[in-house]
Amino acid sequence: MKSYMVAVAAMALAIGGAQAQSNYPERPVTMIVPFAAGGPTDVVARIVGEHMSRTLGQQIVIENVAGAGGTTGITRGAQANADGYTIMMGHMGTHGAAPALYPNLKYDPTKDFAPVGLAAGTPILVVSKNAIPAKTLKEFMDYAKANASKLNEAHAGVGSVSHTTCTLFNEQLGIKPNRVAYRGTGPALNDLVAGQVDYACDQIVNLVPQIKAGTIKAFAIATAQRNPALPDVPTTIEAGMPDYQVSAWNAIFAPKGTPEAIVTKLNDALSKALDDENTRKRLLELGADIPDAKGRTPRALQQLVDSEVGRWTPVLKAAGVTAN
Ligand code: MLT
Repeated sequence: MKSYMVAVAAMALAIGGAQAQSNYPERPVTMIVPFAAGGPTDVVARIVGEHMSRTLGQQIVIENVAGAGGTTGITRGAQANADGYTIMMGHMGTHGAAPALYPNLKYDPTKDFAPVGLAAGTPILVVSKNAIPAKTLKEFMDYAKANASKLNEAHAGVGSVSHTTCTLFNEQLGIKPNRVAYRGTGPALNDLVAGQVDYACDQIVNLVPQIKAGTIKAFAIATAQRNPALPDVPTTIEAGMPDYQVSAWNAIFAPKGTPEAIVTKLNDALSKALDDENTRKRLLELGADIPDAKGRTPRALQQLVDSEVGRWTPVLKAAGVTAN
């Protein structure tokens, strides 16, 4: 092909690309949730996704792709076309703990994504089935130490938030319970309510309705302050386990190479959702922490991922936990 024809073709491609970006989105956007429907990641994705759809003018369609502590779905998202039509809801597990637990992880959380923005901070609670004979965290700690080999702890797979945060809990207690993996803490919570499993460490946005309904016990929240959505649940500091301080977060990512103009549109839609009164109300009622404007930028999310991978890797390696 003559060089001027190459130049014309390249120009046409560039114009076409710019056109596609400025018209984005022209069709529904898939948001991969790497856990089963009904769990905390799914709940946050659907709440923010609903308002983002309005801003974008196209439906954000949630696709639950569970497995391997969320890494199956995130791997699929990382390998999707970087055209803005596949995004994903990741979190402290998939983009913080996973590298320490999956030696053959098919993505690097710090390099293989275009961070869009932080959606919600999600404090962690220690909860149990109602039949556990403990009324306080101290009593549960004593019970767990005395009965560890008989206890079943529910989580959403190695590398999930529930698995990672209960690894820390179990380590601090010096216990080794039976660890039961689910495709998300939505299904895990059903079994906790039914008394099929004994305890879990889970994100507040999954637990508030059940705790308020009295169908599970909440011993403590692992943050320095109590949470307005659950004012009667003591902090781990008040309840006698001050070293157990852990919180999670959920954030939206696009595949690496997604055009900046598209990331900006997605980030703008997320930010408008987090400023929307009804969306805020729904998240706050579930105990979520809503990031401020500074905390919502793509750069802030990149810094969070970098720090979280750095934080969790030594903790999990010291605990000797791996996925294999
Ligand atoms: C987890 O990491 O435990 C997940 O958030 C569980 C879920 O979203 O189902």
